[in-house]
Amino acid sequence: MPREIGGDRFGRALRDLRVSVTDRCNFRCPYCMPKEEFGDGYRFVPAAGQLTDAETVRLAGLFADLGVRKLRITGGEPLLRRGLPALIAALAPLRARGIDDIALTTNGFLLERHAPALAGAGLDRVTVSLDSLDPHVFEHLNGLDRPLEPVLRGIDAALAAGLEPIKINVVVLRGVNDGGLLDLVERFRGTGIAVRFIEYMDVGNRNGWSADQVVPSRRIVETIDAVHPLEPAEPAYAGEVARRYRYADGAGEIGFISSVSEPFCGDCTRARLSVDGTLYTCLFAWKGVALLPLLRAGAGDAEIARAVRDTWERRDDRYSEDRKRVQAFIDGKRRGGDGRPAVAARAKVEMSEVEMAKVEMHRVGG
Ligand code: GTP
Ligand code: 5AD
Ligand code: SF4
Ligand code: SF4
Repeated sequence: MPREIGGDRFGRALRDLRVSVTDRCNFRCPYCMPKEEFGDGYRFVPAAGQLTDAETVRLAGLFADLGVRKLRITGGEPLLRRGLPALIAALAPLRARGIDDIALTTNGFLLERHAPALAGAGLDRVTVSLDSLDPHVFEHLNGLDRPLEPVLRGIDAALAAGLEPIKINVVVLRGVNDGGLLDLVERFRGTGIAVRFIEYMDVGNRNGWSADQVVPSRRIVETIDAVHPLEPAEPAYAGEVARRYRYADGAGEIGFISSVSEPFCGDCTRARLSVDGTLYTCLFAWKGVALLPLLRAGAGDAEIARAVRDTWERRDDRYSEDRKRVQAFIDGKRRGGDGRPAVAARAKVEMSEVEMAKVEMHRVGG
């Protein structure tokens, strides 16, 4: 069995693998797959170019041998993958190779139907994306006027099936859903379900991101704290993406994922496997390492493990931190630094360079 990978160029271990099981989605959230861009003309990965269940399990097993402890199944919308419970059931035995957590991130629309089979197959828990409890805002934000009720029923079904702890992911867009955040707080306080507010990120090249659409987490903390006093909580595990807070009255916890205002690249232990079998070492990477051709050329485990190890050991990604540095530099110039055009122009080039360095979020599963 291959030995675990020590660390990347910054000493970060490989601990989490996010496995995208489809690049398709039944929603068209404007911040992820805007419908103008992801319409009839968009070329999704054809069936023949997708990892099969057996290939996915083989790769996940090799990643486990190399140090991965957590598998997160993502999409697109993972529940669109046919036979997902069978894939989960085939991944579950990897616990014997060190996997201690198998989670799923879903938009919840089809969850009511699938929750029992997923739990039966060995899935530990689900995280449901839910940006608003206002039916109109929800319909607008999923791009296709999909109704809210099935998602709420999906969450109930996940609870009933024991897919806990359940988390709710809320992407916050200024002027779109930021007026309804307290509704989400009220609904899930005291239920054991943790709501996490996510700063809108500049992922992909298609969502028209701009910094003024981001609501910094600290503002939301203040708003909630004024109604329900909050206390900071320790991270649940090293490298946790969300910063957690507890309600002082004991009604549970909430989280904030602040990759724009407070990047967390320093302890990022996440690798991503897209449905076409490409390994990405950063959510914002612009190129990955194609493992599918290796698999299909009959490569042995040792050869594939070596490709993964070499890729991780070379890894120096820290996109969110770089973006923040460049943004701070540009802001500094705007606020009246020395204002020399040559310097300002160089900063812009750097910004556009990092801007280019992005795959689409739905392909690598957040
Ligand atoms: P837990 O295991 O429950 O802590 O899950 P998680 O927070 O790692 O995963 P989830 O899929 O719920 O991710 C929540 C959000 O965090 C994603 O939607 C992304 O917006 C963001 N996120 C997750 N991983 C990364 C990452 O590596 N980099 C950045 N910049 N954002 C990330
Ligand atoms: N910024 C922040 N979060 C995003 N997600 C998708 N696109 C973005 C973005 N641009 C979130 C989804 C889901 C998770 C997998 O990624 O809401 O919760
Ligand atoms: Fe689909 Fe999730 Fe992207 Fe929305 S955020 S388009 S539900 S993959
Ligand atoms: Fe990790 Fe890249 Fe996200 Fe930083 S930007 S936390 S390196 S995935």
